[in-house]
Amino acid sequence: MFGPKTQSLQKRAQKVIPLGVNSNFRFWGDEITPYVEKAKGGYLWDVDGREYIDYRMAFGPIILGHAYDEVDQKVIEEIQKGILFAMTGELEVAVAEMIVDMSPAIDMVRMACSGTEATMHAIRVARAYTGRDIIVKFEGNYHGMHDHTLWSTYAPVEAYGNRRSPIPVAASSGIPTAMRDFIIVLPFNDFDGFDRVMKSHGEQIAAVITEPCQGNCAAINPQPGFLELIRQRTEEHGCVFILDEVKTGFRIANGGAQEYYGITPDLVTYAKSLGNGYPVAAFGGKREIMSIIGQGVSQGGTYTNNKPGIAGAYATLNILKSQPVLKTIEKRGQRLMDGLKEIFEENDIQAVFTGYPAMFSFSFGIDAVTCQRDWAVSDHDLYIELTDKAIARGIMPDRDAREPWFLCYEHTDADIDRTLQIYAEIAKEVKK
Ligand SMILES: Cc1ncc(COP(=O)(O)O)c(C=O)c1O
Repeated sequence: MFGPKTQSLQKRAQKVIPLGVNSNFRFWGDEITPYVEKAKGGYLWDVDGREYIDYRMAFGPIILGHAYDEVDQKVIEEIQKGILFAMTGELEVAVAEMIVDMSPAIDMVRMACSGTEATMHAIRVARAYTGRDIIVKFEGNYHGMHDHTLWSTYAPVEAYGNRRSPIPVAASSGIPTAMRDFIIVLPFNDFDGFDRVMKSHGEQIAAVITEPCQGNCAAINPQPGFLELIRQRTEEHGCVFILDEVKTGFRIANGGAQEYYGITPDLVTYAKSLGNGYPVAAFGGKREIMSIIGQGVSQGGTYTNNKPGIAGAYATLNILKSQPVLKTIEKRGQRLMDGLKEIFEENDIQAVFTGYPAMFSFSFGIDAVTCQRDWAVSDHDLYIELTDKAIARGIMPDRDAREPWFLCYEHTDADIDRTLQIYAEIAKEVKK
């Protein structure tokens, strides 16, 4: 699928880095793993010099465009004044003010470096606030690499058991089995199952954590009323509602899913689009809950106010506030979704679209997708076949159908046209 330089770099990398990559998700297989040279705007070039319209956007963070000049200029200006002090500066206060201003559910916020850290800290705070240990999460949601929620994240869903009594399945060896005592898993959008769990365990549950849509499982949307039910039941039972907006935050609306759905979780986590790719994350929420940090509740990190991340967030949020970034992305994303839908229909390829114009997915060969168990029976082979053909022609979505297509501000109408033209060709080919 890729050229000779890619192949030899993979072999070289595999001698010194497990799988030849620094995150398991970047390994597509022997001889089919991409290695990148550079990216600019909506484009990416691999080490063989091949150009792609990039729809992976680094798994979502690139909301403006790769190497976005205005953001990079601010970062360069700021890092020349030093990058780390183990003291607090004005820029991070300004970033916190902007997050609070833009996020309906956030009164106070703490910064972190990655989504993993943000959710880990939010879970600590929720447990400290409630004095309880159990976390409820939904199958197919991913909240980062820590042991607390790396359960029932990936298929095979056959291991998940009956949906009335789901079995938490660790997504990795090395997670202590004892951690299983602290996790309850449920299918996403399972209203009855959620009600049952809250009735039977509500008083022991510290937090219910969910992505607003399943950003790590085909961007499956919440059914009307599902997020509201979580809000209502968590309130009734004194549990903390953590909305993990690491993928949706500063992408589906300036105020994230909180604004989009008009819901008020207790805590929210951000990363990704917050800094257009710079290493920055945040978690925040109600003053009453966040105020316990420092009152016997530990939270910190040497790099939590690293200047590249903070400056990246400062510049990105300013641009999001002052320019029609998300509206523009929405318009182009909608055109892309509509166009793809039409192409699949014309070629008798059954496809269900999920997500939002700024991050969407499609699943083949099924009528509806409401949870990971549905997605698991969709036609993954067809998805991979189409994607491989698209990549060979310079269009780069992720090969894993669970990973949504992401758009950025710098994707142009011409990029959308080209993508549709190529998908029209390859859809015909796979139907032959
Ligand atoms: C919803 C969600 N939460 C948390 C994370 C973890 O973020 P990070 O990879 O920055 O640690 C991710 C990463 O994809 C995510 O999608």
